[in-house]
Amino acid sequence: MLIRRSARTILLILVTVSGVETVTGRPGRWSSSIQQIDCRLKKKDEQNDLIQSRITSKVQSSTPILTMGKCTTTVIVLSLLLLIISTNGRELRWKRSTNNQVDIAPLTNNDAQTKSIVGGLDDTIIDRFLVNGQSLGFIYWNTKLGRNTSINIEFGDEKKLVDYWIRGSPLKMITHGFIRSANDVEVTSIKSSYIDTGSYNVITFDWSHVSKNIIYPIPAYLTSHIGHLVAEFLKKCVEYKLISFREIHLIGHSFGAHIFAAAGDALDGKIGRITGMDPAAYGFEFLVVQPKHLNSTDAQFVDVIHSSAGTFGYVEPIGHVDFYPNGGITPQPGCMEAFLPVDFLSLVLCSHVRAPQYFVDSIYKSTSFKAVQCSSAEEYTNGLCTNNPTNFMGEDANPNTTGVFYLKAFTNAPAIGAANFLLNYVN
Ligand SMILES: *[C@@H]1O[C@H](CO)[C@@H](O)[C@H](O)[C@H]1NC(C)=O
Ligand SMILES: *[C@@H]1O[C@H](CO)[C@@H](O)[C@H](O)[C@H]1NC(C)=O
Ligand SMILES: *[C@@H]1O[C@H](CO)[C@@H](O)[C@H](O)[C@H]1NC(C)=O
Repeated sequence: MLIRRSARTILLILVTVSGVETVTGRPGRWSSSIQQIDCRLKKKDEQNDLIQSRITSKVQSSTPILTMGKCTTTVIVLSLLLLIISTNGRELRWKRSTNNQVDIAPLTNNDAQTKSIVGGLDDTIIDRFLVNGQSLGFIYWNTKLGRNTSINIEFGDEKKLVDYWIRGSPLKMITHGFIRSANDVEVTSIKSSYIDTGSYNVITFDWSHVSKNIIYPIPAYLTSHIGHLVAEFLKKCVEYKLISFREIHLIGHSFGAHIFAAAGDALDGKIGRITGMDPAAYGFEFLVVQPKHLNSTDAQFVDVIHSSAGTFGYVEPIGHVDFYPNGGITPQPGCMEAFLPVDFLSLVLCSHVRAPQYFVDSIYKSTSFKAVQCSSAEEYTNGLCTNNPTNFMGEDANPNTTGVFYLKAFTNAPAIGAANFLLNYVN
């Protein structure tokens, strides 16, 4: 038992280190010291680097711990947490159910061995390892019902939608990220903007049962599984002839982008459109826990808004169309002013939430975010791309003009910081 666990530990550390080495461009070199891992992003864009370093130096004096070893700390913490997952994975007993769907069998309280292995974790955390259709929330809204009336749809009871569905109107499905829920503003504001502006079927998808597990790699790892459950749900909607796959638009923030990616992938890319709003980088692009990330193969059209690239958000373009408002990086406009000089985390979170806020603005005020195709933020800033093809960030993104797009963007939406995130977590 002890030997088996030690072997697993060593394997995991090696896997983690090699993963880190791969993303930091040092393949094949087993670092003897995790301390030496250089987590700097391979960003060519000097302007971005300059801005980043300016933030870093400003923050350095007030929050030395964050800047000193943010990445080193992440590596160590994630290694430990991966270990917890792996030792626990045995207890989760993955099983195949009749429809070939992977389910995780519930842990039972009298499972003494389970208790001993996850003994350090409290029951809520253990509970959040478990995910099945019943632990997810599918909340239906439409333009006729109005922005204040919703219908809860149980997983497996999709037939109930038949009574409410607006035939011939598209489906917009929206979800949240890590720590958040479908009651949070980045989801509800997009829902309301559709209800206010046209005829839509809207489903806000809640997976807070898992997202509120603060052990980051666990929800990250489970995104793919949750995506498969979403795919099952959507298949039922199509079976009941409410909608065709082509008319479905999935809109996910952060981890939610990768959940919808997994759903689209499970449906062979038949979904009409997936919008990734600042898809999460950690766990997917860096320090990979879950290899299934948003990709252009997941839907007929995949558009991505990057608003905190390299801090929380994905750096590389992964859609058919990728927008980098204000360079795509932290800090987005309004965030710096709201949270410097003390709060680096809020600065990043504020920028991370800018993507859904821009998206809302794009629904209320169509074609308001005109972007130009360009190969780098530097070329964009230097005016070298002014005659290139254009596209519109957000709802009006045009699938016929693909590539990477830059623009200056601004929103009046409030700056959301760490306090807001924690408040929601406690509630
Ligand atoms: C919805 O609820 C909000 C807050 O309770 C209220 O201000 C608003 O008037 C309601 N809207 C409708 C259309 O009922
Ligand atoms: C992403 O899409 C490309 C094609 O655009 C494909 O070659 C690649 O395998 C996909 N990657 C993943 C992780 O799905
Ligand atoms: C994209 O191209 C298709 C086929 O040519 C066309 O039907 C569609 O209207 C175009 N979409 C936009 C937004 O221009």
